Amino acid sequence: MQTIIEPFRIKSVEPIRMTTRDEREQRLRQAAYNVFQLHSEDVLIDLLTDSGTSAMSSEQWAAMMRGDESYAGSPSFYRFERAIQDIFGFKYVFPTHQGRAAERILFSVMCKAEDVVPSNTHFDTTRANVEFTGARAVDLVIPEGRQPQAVHPFKGNMDVGALARLIAEVGRERIPLCMLTVTNNSGGGQPVSMANIREVSALCRAHGIPLYIDACRFAENAYFIKLREPGYAARAPLEIAREMFSHADGATMSAKKDGLANIGGFIASNDAGVAQQERNLLILTEGFPTYGGLAGRDLEAIAVGLHEALAEDYLLYRITSTTYLGRHIAEQGVPIVQPPGGHAVYIDAAALFPHIPPAELPGQALVVELYREAGIRAVEIGTVMFGRRDPATGAESTASMELVRLAIPRRVYTQSHIDYVVEAILNVHARRAAVRGYRFVEQAPYLRHFTARFAPLE
Ligand code: F0G
Repeated sequence: MQTIIEPFRIKSVEPIRMTTRDEREQRLRQAAYNVFQLHSEDVLIDLLTDSGTSAMSSEQWAAMMRGDESYAGSPSFYRFERAIQDIFGFKYVFPTHQGRAAERILFSVMCKAEDVVPSNTHFDTTRANVEFTGARAVDLVIPEGRQPQAVHPFKGNMDVGALARLIAEVGRERIPLCMLTVTNNSGGGQPVSMANIREVSALCRAHGIPLYIDACRFAENAYFIKLREPGYAARAPLEIAREMFSHADGATMSAKKDGLANIGGFIASNDAGVAQQERNLLILTEGFPTYGGLAGRDLEAIAVGLHEALAEDYLLYRITSTTYLGRHIAEQGVPIVQPPGGHAVYIDAAALFPHIPPAELPGQALVVELYREAGIRAVEIGTVMFGRRDPATGAESTASMELVRLAIPRRVYTQSHIDYVVEAILNVHARRAAVRGYRFVEQAPYLRHFTARFAPLE
């Protein structure tokens, strides 16, 4: 087997600062054991998110110099629009400052109270923006998508039978649109197959329900289709992406992921009426439709990045490095969501620390240990994020899974960085029986994971 190398050379480097264990211990105490409160300079390998953390290419930086900052009609916008029309095939394209702005505008235009919006799994911001309009967000991922150990090539697929039942139950009039998130971030970065996109699309079209794709990680999804779905092995990722979106009526995207940009997003569709309303809202809160909350240079970086994300050697390296991390820790007995996703590996902290009950926050314990051990920052996706304290009784609810996400920034870390992460995880795994849980000392009423303060349990 041939070694798969990073398909780039490094032209500009950004030093990362080594810290001692004593320093990290002190930083942890100062941060009240919440890694969102750390200064990123004190983090050696930052796997908090793959969003907005990509390294840009020399072509993207060169394009940024061409950025035209005209308020209206900038050539940067037309390059951005052309790139999106070329890949996604939608007629109306509006830039937004990031993904959630696109979501807010789309759902404000399409949803009202009592409506229902199905998806394979809504990402948190998508769900929050649906609910903000008074509508209900429903997750209909296939059953395998909810089981960490179940192996399935397309665990992000939507349960088409469940969608048909939902339509029959609530009626087409109450479903203003259907969403598909590719890849399925909240479900472990798992892909959606072309067959599933086609079936969901056919069912939606039969009922006159528009299908929108949350396209954040569309290139990674296209590559999984190439690798895993019969009939696609010889097709280029660009062609596969075009086919994916040919089944949809529109898309929202955070370009901070597969746009390989540090900020930005867009909303796109073929519906002139919807586009007209979106344009009006965009002007109200984002900006004029040819910049929509972005600088001309950001539009340029995205226009180049969207195509770079579809390059086959890049995608091979990208998916291989995530799989490499997942495989090397899983082989040594670390329980992970199988198979590894496109942008991240998810460790099952409840299975890793069976002696720490969910109420004692096993995911948080692992996040703290990874920083203490090696200066690595990951994110808890379990009871800290999804559990709730009942304000009346003080009783804590727990999440259905206790996961820790290791999200890999694009083109940022090399294989030796990943080897270092593997070693650190295996060291924590070796001393897992001695790791203890945490309790909340302070927490906000919503989105508590960002600001909560914790204390270790003895
Ligand atoms: N949709 C998905 C599937 C996402 O993963 C995200 C962001 C968004 C929408 C919102 O985009 O941040 O540009 O407003 N995910 C980041 C993450 C925050 O860490 O997974 P945004």
